[in-house]
Amino acid sequence: MQFAERLQFLQANVFADMDRAKAKAKATGKEIVDLSLGSSDLTASERVIAAIEQSLRDRNTHGYLLHHGTQAFREAAANWYTKRFGIPVDAQTEVLSLIGSQEGTAHLPLALLNPGDFALLLDPGYPSHAGGVYLAGGQVYPMPLLAENDFLPVLADVPLPVLAQARMMVLSYPHNPTTAIAPLSFFERAVDFCRQHNLVLVHDFPYVDIFFDTASPPPSIFQADPHKEISIEFFTFSKSYNMGGFRIGYAIGNARLIQALRQIKAVVDFNQYKGILNGAIAALNAPDDSIKETVAIYQKRRDSFINALHRIGWQVPTPKATMYVWAKLPEPWANNSIEFCTQLVAATGVAVAPGAGFGKCGEGYVRFALVQDLEILEASVEKIASFL
Ligand SMILES: Cc1ncc(COP(=O)(O)O)c(C=O)c1O
Repeated sequence: MQFAERLQFLQANVFADMDRAKAKAKATGKEIVDLSLGSSDLTASERVIAAIEQSLRDRNTHGYLLHHGTQAFREAAANWYTKRFGIPVDAQTEVLSLIGSQEGTAHLPLALLNPGDFALLLDPGYPSHAGGVYLAGGQVYPMPLLAENDFLPVLADVPLPVLAQARMMVLSYPHNPTTAIAPLSFFERAVDFCRQHNLVLVHDFPYVDIFFDTASPPPSIFQADPHKEISIEFFTFSKSYNMGGFRIGYAIGNARLIQALRQIKAVVDFNQYKGILNGAIAALNAPDDSIKETVAIYQKRRDSFINALHRIGWQVPTPKATMYVWAKLPEPWANNSIEFCTQLVAATGVAVAPGAGFGKCGEGYVRFALVQDLEILEASVEKIASFL
């Protein structure tokens, strides 16, 4: 059998190595505490479950869902967005439902890149952003994110020959894995830059609700591009509403971009199940209580986990957003996050994500996902202390 060359780009995945390391540790009798994936241990609200249950009983929901989802879903998403950010959204032409936001960000390059074209991506960044570029036969230009630049890319550093062949830039703040928040002023600079170089600006925004210590939410890209001239933004129900397994998200953006992504998707899928769209509508229309509860839980976990790390002498900054902690590794692992993670899980059962899995500039860090109860998180810090 002969396989396409693009498969090679998809095989180098350190998370698959971590899965093997976890399985091996489990086989030797270790109890695994998995802090390596951003998959929430919290669950969807009763309101969402009831809406889906009711839909299941309605046999009219059992067929293919044609015509880019339902108008009710698109309206709920548009209304939610306008209520939050004060910018009007046309539900008919500027919203597209997705089978998770990852599906949308991974498919979008197929609509924008010809083989060999560049996409400018954050390094470290979410792995499927690069995966989607490779599927489209594009090239990735990684924009380094360094602590001294608050984990924002230096746009002026992108070489002109790359820009000449670049078609898109992908941003994502609050940022997985570094937890950084981008100020609106940075988004304004990014919009100017993308306009100047004729790039589509993609903003992946899964942590729109997961922020701490402030009443002002992180900015949306359309606050910098209010007429949606060059941008598309991706939202998910996986984080705010603990619906990761339901696979539901949406894009809001420039009508031509939405139309192009819709054309690509039309080849691939028939949209998410209507009952799940109904659950998502219930989530969007609900008062903020359940999101507030989720955020309060992550905040408590964050505080106790960071305190515990500080107590064992591991100084890490306190994240202002997301459900992660991004920690610089001490010696002797300062340049070998994969070795650290595989040894840690083998010795203690605690699984964390190696920074190198998110890109070259992630090396030297690990990412903890705060997806376990407080007591388990604190106990895992004890185990890490004994390992260190
Ligand atoms: C930046 C980013 N984008 C997308 C996703 C996946 O979202 P979804 O479950 O909607 O596919 C995640 C999940 O961790 C993420 O961190």
